[in-house]
Amino acid sequence: MVEAKNITILGSTGSIGVNALDVISSLGGGYRVVALVAGNNVELLAEQALRFKPEVAVIAEESKYADLADRLAGSGVAAAAGADAVEGAAARDDVNVVVAAIVGFAGFRPTLAALRAGHDVALANKETLVAGGAVVKPLVEGDGPRLLPVDSEHAALAQCLLGTKPEEVERLVLTASGGPFLDAPAEEIYGASPEQALNHPNWNMGAKITVDSATMMNKGLEVIEAHWLFDMPFDRIDVVVHPQSVVHSMVEFQDGSLVAQMGPADMRLPIQFALTYPLRADTKFEGDGFSLVDVGTLEFREPDADKFPSLSLAVEAGRAGGVKPAALNAANEVAVNAFLERRIPFGAVAETVAAVLEDAPDDEPTYDNIVGADVWARRRAEEVISKTQTPSASGSKL
Ligand SMILES: NC(=O)c1ccc[n+]([C@@H]2O[C@H](COP(=O)([O-])OP(=O)(O)OC[C@H]3O[C@@H](n4cnc5c(N)ncnc54)[C@H](OP(=O)(O)O)[C@@H]3O)[C@@H](O)[C@H]2O)c1
Repeated sequence: MVEAKNITILGSTGSIGVNALDVISSLGGGYRVVALVAGNNVELLAEQALRFKPEVAVIAEESKYADLADRLAGSGVAAAAGADAVEGAAARDDVNVVVAAIVGFAGFRPTLAALRAGHDVALANKETLVAGGAVVKPLVEGDGPRLLPVDSEHAALAQCLLGTKPEEVERLVLTASGGPFLDAPAEEIYGASPEQALNHPNWNMGAKITVDSATMMNKGLEVIEAHWLFDMPFDRIDVVVHPQSVVHSMVEFQDGSLVAQMGPADMRLPIQFALTYPLRADTKFEGDGFSLVDVGTLEFREPDADKFPSLSLAVEAGRAGGVKPAALNAANEVAVNAFLERRIPFGAVAETVAAVLEDAPDDEPTYDNIVGADVWARRRAEEVISKTQTPSASGSKL
């Protein structure tokens, strides 16, 4: 039996947000949504608000306020808009847990607002820890609120670590699907189109993380995320490519045992575990019929650092510390966006990040310096992109 919780969902209209609402519906009982937050998608936000009846629905884009208020008129759900209202929804007094599922650095301030208000955070928004881990970490130490990982790899690690002592752990092993270009030749990947990059073999996710999976930047961001979540030095976090996405990650213990968490590629499982942690609900999703016999073979390979330079760019920025990871993250967000808008070829995403990191500042990771590095890196990335050749309309032969 799991305890009752009042929940704010930041990013309710996204892939994680929609899955989180599905989980809350199936948990039923005392799980109640008290605030929903979206960026732009007023239609879906209003639909969710009319169904889940939170106290408030917040749209970050202020110009959409009147539309939202119209759609919610007479429903008993208050409408609000703008950045302060987003942070207010995260910090409400009546909330127990905040699902942080805004994409990108836009999720940083609202996630901090939730933690500063003392609320547990079910964290999907990995960019917050990548860029701002040094600011987030002190808020969750000791008796502070908990950071409950939603990323499937980190949720897997949290499950493998239940009931263990930190000194027993030798290393963490993150698995990576390898994305849609795992077996494609390097020269073909460079000119891949957005449609090709968005065609992930195993997971159905938002556009930014899907492109990050194709470049393998996602795994690099996850290494930094694991470093902060589990207090683990970088040289004790490994990545293995595992194309089947059945083993979600593993922990190696000091006696040489490897403990792995396995299951279907369904984000509702890690979301649910974050909401019920450390208990398990008896809800079952379509993975109910999941069978290792049907999967048959599990493969594990070394990542190809030459073909996917983003992975090492991220790990190196993580090791360098300071505000380098914030600069890496911002440059990557800008470059992924430029790729999706067909302004740069796929291969130029990693090149842009590398160019920005070359002259990224070396500052201490204070709140102001992190925000400053984010602003600086966005501007610098746009400069690099403006000098990059636009891709051919035909894409690649992949
Ligand atoms: N999808 C997955 O399976 C998965 C797995 C692991 C981790 N994650 C992480 O979870 C986060 C969300 O990923 P996703 O795939 O769900 O992304 P997504 O589908 O693109 O959804 C992003 C959400 O963020 C909202 N948003 C964007 N900018 C905002 C702003 N300035 N203020 C308030 N809301 C804003 C969007 O609202 P509108 O749509 O209304 O504009 C949307 O609800 C990312 O950090 C990702 O790395 C995702």
